[in-house]
Amino acid sequence: MKFTVQGGLEKAALKGAIRVPGDKSISHRSIMFGSLAEGSSHISGFLEGEDSLNTLRAFQAMGVQIEGPDEGRVTIHGVGMNGLKAPEKALDLGNAGTSMRLLAGLLAGQQFDVELRGDVSLSKRPMKRVTDPLSQMGAKIETAEGGKPPLKITGGQSLNSFSYQMPMASAQVKSCCLLAGMYAQGKTCVTEPAITRDHTERMLKAFGCKVEVNGDTACVTGPAKLIATDIDVPADISSAAFFMVGASIAEGSDIVLQHVGINPTRTGIIDILKLMGADITLSNQIEVGGEPVADIQIRSAKLKGIHVPEELVPLAIDEFPVLFVAAACAEGQTIITGAEELRVKESDRIQVMADGLQALGVDARATDDGMVIQGRVDGAAFDGGTVHSHDDHRIAMAFAMASLRAAGEIHIEDCDNVNTSFPGFAGLARSCGLSIQAFDE
Ligand code: S3P
Repeated sequence: MKFTVQGGLEKAALKGAIRVPGDKSISHRSIMFGSLAEGSSHISGFLEGEDSLNTLRAFQAMGVQIEGPDEGRVTIHGVGMNGLKAPEKALDLGNAGTSMRLLAGLLAGQQFDVELRGDVSLSKRPMKRVTDPLSQMGAKIETAEGGKPPLKITGGQSLNSFSYQMPMASAQVKSCCLLAGMYAQGKTCVTEPAITRDHTERMLKAFGCKVEVNGDTACVTGPAKLIATDIDVPADISSAAFFMVGASIAEGSDIVLQHVGINPTRTGIIDILKLMGADITLSNQIEVGGEPVADIQIRSAKLKGIHVPEELVPLAIDEFPVLFVAAACAEGQTIITGAEELRVKESDRIQVMADGLQALGVDARATDDGMVIQGRVDGAAFDGGTVHSHDDHRIAMAFAMASLRAAGEIHIEDCDNVNTSFPGFAGLARSCGLSIQAFDE
């Protein structure tokens, strides 16, 4: 699929009230924990995107009965901690890094052998970050050269509990260790160098598992047991982020994003945009299943360049592609540092975004751990042109929003993977004012 997005200026503005699809991180975890629980769990608001569907199919392949999804509703008949069955073939997780890393932890303590594979992009992503700590626990996992997928896990190992000091800020690594810890005897603790998303800790508690969190350390005691519960998945703040930036940069915009998850480990995008001068208001704040949720209203504003505080980087790690677009529309310079993790996401998001921004005439310079962007606050911030998303969903959607301040048409190649996290993106974006067409390539 390819997107063509018309340049905007005078007429371009985002308006209306929309609900973006369900949170990807929470959707993955709801399937995993629901499957391991005793009893049936009902999920609503589940993300029917390729990534979370791959997790769902993986558990079906391991013998879990799952009904749906039907308009975001899924019923999982849990099989208990030791009820999974050996799948007939390798589990194909497509583009889903979260699924592979969390499953590595969860499957390391099973009695059966299993192989985890992924698509071309996932097959290039580093897995040593999970196989190293899992090996320390006694797991037996083989990788392809350079610690890349596929992962071949040999079952029947008894895992030791341990304490792990994570070398990088990664919720996937933290979650992987905690999930393996549920199968080890005793207390497994993980300490992170910076705060990362805590959906695993929150949802394990909702499933009745004792998780102790003390500052930067989270611990779980094995052998653990999960009891079925119902989960209401909020709208994904990472998907909402495209509209937050779009509405901020397009004059005359006023949009409400409904029922968005505002877990404080995910709201870096709001804090960074506010530091840049964005007009963002939260209302109807409630708590659903241990996760805070709110409606978010965004009105256009004149943004200014900033040096993004490094402590906010892990709290907005998936939002940088679209934050780079915001920076290109901000007055003066925006500097991003401490974001080297962006180089090992679905694409090298520093290089791919710098290339695309430059192709659209933006003064953007990639650095080892971030970017320096010179913005243009008035008029067109982008030329028209063609950019490549390198099969990365968030790159495609970020450049779609750039069209709101582009002098000409933007063509975005390789957009199929938008379906991994945001099915229906083009239609929803069109409904609130983006002139976007999707074509089969
Ligand atoms: C995720 C954690 C983040 C994020 C990813 C989802 C999760 O990755 O980029 O999209 O659900 O745990 P890292 O934890 O590797 O930074």
